[in-house]
Amino acid sequence: MIVLQGIHQTYASAAGPVLALQGIDLHIGKGEVFGVIGRSGAGKSSLVRTINLLSRPTQGTVQVAGRELTTLNAEQLRLARQDIGMVFQHFNLLSSRTVYANVALPLELAGVRAAEVRQRVDPLLDLVGLSALRDRYPAQISGGQKQRVGIARALASRPKVLLSDEATSALDPETTRSILALFQQIQREFDLTIVLITHQMQVIKQVAERVAVIDAGRIVEQGAVMDVFTRPQHATTRSLVEDIVPQALPESVLARIRMLMAESVAGDSRLLRLAFAGTAPDQPILSQVIRQFGLDLNLLHGQIDEIQGRPFGSLSVLLRGAQVQLGAAVAHLRGSGVLVEDMNTLRVAPEVAHVQ
Ligand SMILES: Nc1ncnc2c1ncn2[C@@H]1O[C@H](COP(=O)(O)OP(=O)(O)O)[C@@H](O)[C@H]1O
Ligand SMILES: [Mg+2]
Repeated sequence: MIVLQGIHQTYASAAGPVLALQGIDLHIGKGEVFGVIGRSGAGKSSLVRTINLLSRPTQGTVQVAGRELTTLNAEQLRLARQDIGMVFQHFNLLSSRTVYANVALPLELAGVRAAEVRQRVDPLLDLVGLSALRDRYPAQISGGQKQRVGIARALASRPKVLLSDEATSALDPETTRSILALFQQIQREFDLTIVLITHQMQVIKQVAERVAVIDAGRIVEQGAVMDVFTRPQHATTRSLVEDIVPQALPESVLARIRMLMAESVAGDSRLLRLAFAGTAPDQPILSQVIRQFGLDLNLLHGQIDEIQGRPFGSLSVLLRGAQVQLGAAVAHLRGSGVLVEDMNTLRVAPEVAHVQ
């Protein structure tokens, strides 16, 4: 549905040229919810604005719905843009127009008759849950409601593609969730292709099927969301994952580990990190392993999050028990699809141990 090839975007600035995009290739399929994540200044807005040629790339080609946009004349481009709706971080509503009139605006500009405008706008207001607020002005509604107006307006021309540039970045987490749920609903209802540009992992986690990570004007990693975030290759991807699932153990946890290790207990201890990557079983695997192999467990640190309803994250644990049993437990965990990383093999000599 969207094919970008060899996209470069260079801006002139007082300090010299800014290479905002440096060779972007992207293929986004019909009906996909595709996320593009990157830090501020990475080139996200530049990228999304090339998809509807709001900003014309200095090099490269842009195909949307089978049409090459860079070669179209002004009138052809105006028509092609009706296939592409866009939602903005700061909503970009007209303050002098009511909710209804904001949604109606693109249709009025396209010369649609008033009766038909009404026929199209009413169901859209229904869809985004704003029928009761149709006569309010933007200053009289909340941020989340403003974004609902922005979404209804973007859908007014019945686009095939919806672009969102940080649509939820100005919203609180709960409103963000409801707006993302709305995106999912309209994707299903209209079989839309949605491109979500964001710096928020929450957005990618909740709705994107595939994701591209952009850094300094280049796509450094892309693929299925679960794959990219469970096996991050690039430093930027790793730091984004770190935002939701911290990898390093904090000093307070290390101190607790030292304290636990200082307690002399017969047998061996293993400090493990258990990573769950969509494969965490439904059954309470940890307690099962502890019982089966007669181990003690200290839960030290960790976080389990969800990507599209599947568990994702890691737990750092100290397992104690007989060495053979520890080995068997680790094998059992691995066999159940848990990624087990040995952080250290620690041993307390039995002769100094006392029975607890
Ligand atoms: N119109 C412009 N003129 C000059 N530099 C720009 C312009 N727009 C963006 N930039 C620069 O291009 C880079 C990418 O910007 P942008 O695409 O807005 O990134 P993002 O949306 O990821 O924060 C930044 O260094 C930014 O300062
Ligand atoms: Mg931006």
